Amino acid sequence: MKVLIVGGGGREHALAWKAARSPLVSEVLCAPGNAGTALEPGVRNVEVGADDIDGLVGLAKDESVGLSIVGPEQPLVEGITDRFEAEGLKCFGPSASGARLEGSKSFAKDFFARHDIPTADYEAFDDLEAARRYLAGRPLPTVIKADGLAAGKGVIIAHTAEEADRTLRGMLEEHDFGDAGKTVVIEDFLRGEEASFIALVDGTRILPLASSQDHKARDDGDRGPNTGGMGAYSPAPVVSGEVNDRIMDQVMRPAVEGLAADGIHYRGFLYAGLMIDEHGAPRVLEFNCRFGDPETQPILFRLRSDLVAVLLESFGGALDEADLDWDPRACVGVVMAAGGYPAGYEKNKPITGLDGLDSDTVKVFHAGTRLDAGRVVTSGGRVLCTVALGDSVSKAQERAYAAVEKIDWEGAFCRSDIGYRAVAREERGANQAS
Ligand code: AMP
Ligand code: GLY
Repeated sequence: MKVLIVGGGGREHALAWKAARSPLVSEVLCAPGNAGTALEPGVRNVEVGADDIDGLVGLAKDESVGLSIVGPEQPLVEGITDRFEAEGLKCFGPSASGARLEGSKSFAKDFFARHDIPTADYEAFDDLEAARRYLAGRPLPTVIKADGLAAGKGVIIAHTAEEADRTLRGMLEEHDFGDAGKTVVIEDFLRGEEASFIALVDGTRILPLASSQDHKARDDGDRGPNTGGMGAYSPAPVVSGEVNDRIMDQVMRPAVEGLAADGIHYRGFLYAGLMIDEHGAPRVLEFNCRFGDPETQPILFRLRSDLVAVLLESFGGALDEADLDWDPRACVGVVMAAGGYPAGYEKNKPITGLDGLDSDTVKVFHAGTRLDAGRVVTSGGRVLCTVALGDSVSKAQERAYAAVEKIDWEGAFCRSDIGYRAVAREERGANQAS
């Protein structure tokens, strides 16, 4: 069977790599893919953009694709799955109605309220004066979010009243985020530790994947501007067995039942971005209608089961937890980005040091890369995500950074502390034991 992966980032390279290892799969097509997928055995890039839904439908029909997996949110929000299904093509990802959970933050917040899913108190506005009046009564810091899709960058945590006002004016008056910022959500700032909880959903059943934690801020110690994600690791120790049960009971089941009650059939990845407070209580920061990037990279590097076989079961109503077998080791993924990211950055920088790094314990997944006359050059802000397995998070971290050290291009940078919370927990554990 042929499998089509829609997208061209690090998540899509990991999906393509994993799908190509399935005994059910003859070839993986990646549209449009990147240099990593171009070089991956069993994978072929096709020059069709991830947002070109007509082109993708045509491609899937021409190539008799048996399963398509959609990486990014934009085509999902635009209804790619509805179009594929209308043509009788299997497409793993929610319909446009389900993807609104990610496509509109105010829709998502109303959904949480309707189905009693714990989240921060909020209010949505499209009028500057009304937003200002609401803010005047709220504690600082406060969180201001562009309602629509903004590639993970439309969330501002304002620590002062001036910053909050400037952000509101930027979104509502100066249209800094274009149409995505025409409506803003203002919500209370939550404290705690974040975790990503991603599950496969088939309309009624929920099959949770291994937990993970992303690092959204650009700089060490979670400082600097928000990005699409500078690194991730799995599992996330903050999601203990008890916390896992609370997430399933209070967030995932109510969400899947709520979608069904609202008349939305949801098949796809369902990703809850959570804040876990000091008592282990989860609250939802956001829902995404897709796999996380960069969470996909360490999660899939730990997955021993055949992903394609499991996804196919979601079409037959047989999703079953027993199907997933995980490498018990920890996996850390470090993103290397282009100088200037998440603001402006240069492209077309030749990347050196990539050869010979991949092994059973290390893998360099590509994101913003392309082949230029056989050379790998940069073509995006997040360029690579190097993942490594280890018996502890510290070991996995050490191994990932040892690989990252060997890779270079002009302007490359990365955070040096991916996994630091889990490493600190390990160190506290070791101190308590000794
Ligand atoms: P979102 O895209 O909504 O997940 O927000 C991006 C990032 O902003 C999150 O991963 C958090 O680090 C932070 N964030 C969002 N909402 C809140 C909140 N209510 N309280 C604290 N941090 C938040
Ligand atoms: N890593 C965050 C996201 O995929 O939205």
